[in-house]
Amino acid sequence: MVPVHLLLVLLLQISGSWADSSDSVYDSFVQCLSKQTGKPEEVSKIVYAQSNASFTSVLRAYIRNSRFNSSSTSKPLIIVTPTQESHVQAAVICSKSIGMQLKIRSGGHDYEGISYISDEPFIILDMFNLRSITVDIEEQSAWVESGAILGELYYRIWEKSKVLGFPAGICPTVGVGGHLSGGGYGNILRKHGLSVDHVMDAKIVTADGKILDKDSMGEDLFWAIRGGGGGSFGVILSYKIRLVPVPETVTIFRVERYLEDNATDIVYKWQQVAPTTDDNLFMRMLIQPVNSKVKKGERTIRASIVALFLGNAEELLLLLGKEFPELGLKKENVTEMRWIDSVVWWANYDIGTSPDVLLDRNLDSANFLKRKSDYVQTPISIDGLEWLWKKMIEIGKTGLVFNPYGGKMSEIPASATPFPHRAGNLFKIQYSVNWEEEGAEADKNYTTQIRRLFSYMTPFVSKNPRSAYLNYRDLDIGTNHFGKNSLEEGEVYGVKYFNDNYDRLVKVKSAVDPDNFFRNEQSIPVHPSKA
Ligand SMILES: Cc1cc2nc3c(=O)[nH]c(=O)nc-3n(C[C@H](O)[C@H](O)[C@H](O)COP(=O)(O)OP(=O)(O)OC[C@H]3O[C@@H](n4cnc5c(N)ncnc54)[C@H](O)[C@@H]3O)c2cc1C
Ligand SMILES: *[C@@H]1O[C@H](CO)[C@@H](O)[C@H](O)[C@H]1NC(C)=O
Ligand SMILES: *[C@@H]1O[C@H](CO)[C@@H](O)[C@H](O)[C@H]1NC(C)=O
Ligand SMILES: *[C@@H]1O[C@H](CO)[C@@H](O)[C@H](O)[C@H]1NC(C)=O
Ligand SMILES: *[C@@H]1O[C@H](CO)[C@@H](O)[C@H](O)[C@H]1NC(C)=O
Ligand SMILES: *[C@@H]1O[C@H](CO)[C@@H](O)[C@H](O)[C@H]1NC(C)=O
Repeated sequence: MVPVHLLLVLLLQISGSWADSSDSVYDSFVQCLSKQTGKPEEVSKIVYAQSNASFTSVLRAYIRNSRFNSSSTSKPLIIVTPTQESHVQAAVICSKSIGMQLKIRSGGHDYEGISYISDEPFIILDMFNLRSITVDIEEQSAWVESGAILGELYYRIWEKSKVLGFPAGICPTVGVGGHLSGGGYGNILRKHGLSVDHVMDAKIVTADGKILDKDSMGEDLFWAIRGGGGGSFGVILSYKIRLVPVPETVTIFRVERYLEDNATDIVYKWQQVAPTTDDNLFMRMLIQPVNSKVKKGERTIRASIVALFLGNAEELLLLLGKEFPELGLKKENVTEMRWIDSVVWWANYDIGTSPDVLLDRNLDSANFLKRKSDYVQTPISIDGLEWLWKKMIEIGKTGLVFNPYGGKMSEIPASATPFPHRAGNLFKIQYSVNWEEEGAEADKNYTTQIRRLFSYMTPFVSKNPRSAYLNYRDLDIGTNHFGKNSLEEGEVYGVKYFNDNYDRLVKVKSAVDPDNFFRNEQSIPVHPSKA
């Protein structure tokens, strides 16, 4: 049987130009929305056809990877920008009734752009207007709409309390909708775990257009939307989160070492210390091929530790003097500050920058980039590291970011949420390459580089499955070909992202969205016998 959306593609192609067909899709969509909401005058303000003069700027506003900003990138037929929850319900019902795929976008940070591109005709549900944040200091909780960005969340908490925070990502423009759907981690994960470990309630629009909360959605769906990935189960309208304590004063530092000054020993030792030290200390390690300072024209490796300590400088120096004396950290190398200022510093702003920058949505700005991920469960030997440095220098530009786990991450059972990478993981690796050159040749150059490095890393990382982090979306590890909706395909990436939790996600998906309305390149597939 030919799937409905493929028929639609054929029909659209037979019926004439894409522009015409896009107009007719627009007309039926708007008609349906007007009927559903009973408010045609509101509808006329939230729907952008391709021919609308603002279409391109609305589309670009939340493109966060320039790879998906070219003329050959697939474009939605329509962008709908709800300002009320009822608009979201109507958008779901109407996309379904006209047989269109609906892609949901909150902050647009998906590394593969799958919130705003597709290989079938589609509509974007763009959540940026739904961004209110209500902080309840008494209850130490907050309701956050999915179109809010993390920077706004941190700022609104800080406005009300200097000793409460939230464990989530480091980049302030990341959207709450995708981030919390896929796990969410940042520099206090060793102390407090992931964002999803602090979700108390949620509001979701399901495939039949109903709004459910924790009680009405049931245990299984509430479990699935805390890490099972956005775009599989419904549209998250908002999450209720539990805030966590942060001290009035925290301490940060950054240390850089090159191969010439024993970087290898430091990286080796880091693997022992960073995942086991005091939960209050998070030491991220960045490893990059760079120009040598001592030998002109030669390349070397730089290892940088960027750290946050939930405590003061004195305690930190005492701790590191004991556990990591090789760093040689002194008073002048560490800086005490307020928690909110550490958020700003981690976002790469200079010390002293006003927290107001956290509210900056930085629209329509991006690099060309590709990311991949891995988990390390046994330390890499000195020999292994030295071999790796040679390969990194040979490859060219790709860097590695090591994010230590341990602490709270090891205490939470792997099945508590869909995110399975808990005890037994020393650290997560993010592979990272950014470039400025436009075009297919550069794209091939840099994506080939990062894939080569990933392949060289095979002996050092988790196996059977080789695990990956959902929020570091990587279509190289397998995709779902539309129309096939195949379990076999889903299992390839699903088991890497979710390990033993994959089966339960398939069961939930089959029960709540048996028609597979919410689907994307790596969504959870339906199992016919489980529906
Ligand atoms: C610069 C940068 C820095 C990052 N830093 C971190 C970090 O420190 N820690 C970390 O854990 N991750 C980080 N990430 C990854 C980030 O968490 C994920 O890309 C996340 O999914 C982004 O959420 P979003 O709403 O911005 O993305 P989007 O692209 O809008 O969405 C991502 C996915 O979720 C779906 N989705 C979006 N909104 C909803 C919704 N309301 N309901 C249902 N589904 C939805 C989309 O359809 C898509 O499949 C970073 C990414 C970038 C680009
Ligand atoms: C473009 O779409 C927006 C949002 O629906 C609407 O307010 C605006 O009037 C449209 N512009 C034109 C020229 O149709
Ligand atoms: C997209 O490309 C246009 C030029 O074609 C540029 O002005 C814009 O800044 C780019 N946006 C992103 C997010 O890459
Ligand atoms: C590197 O290690 C050697 C041998 O342990 C030591 O003498 C030297 O001081 C170290 N260099 C740096 C920059 O720490
Ligand atoms: C600490 O600061 C001093 C003075 O700026 C500097 O010489 C030294 O290299 C720094 N140490 C580290 C580990 O960064
Ligand atoms: C390929 O990448 C290298 C850096 O690793 C760069 O020097 C070179 O210019 C790139 N070539 C192209 C065609 O982009």
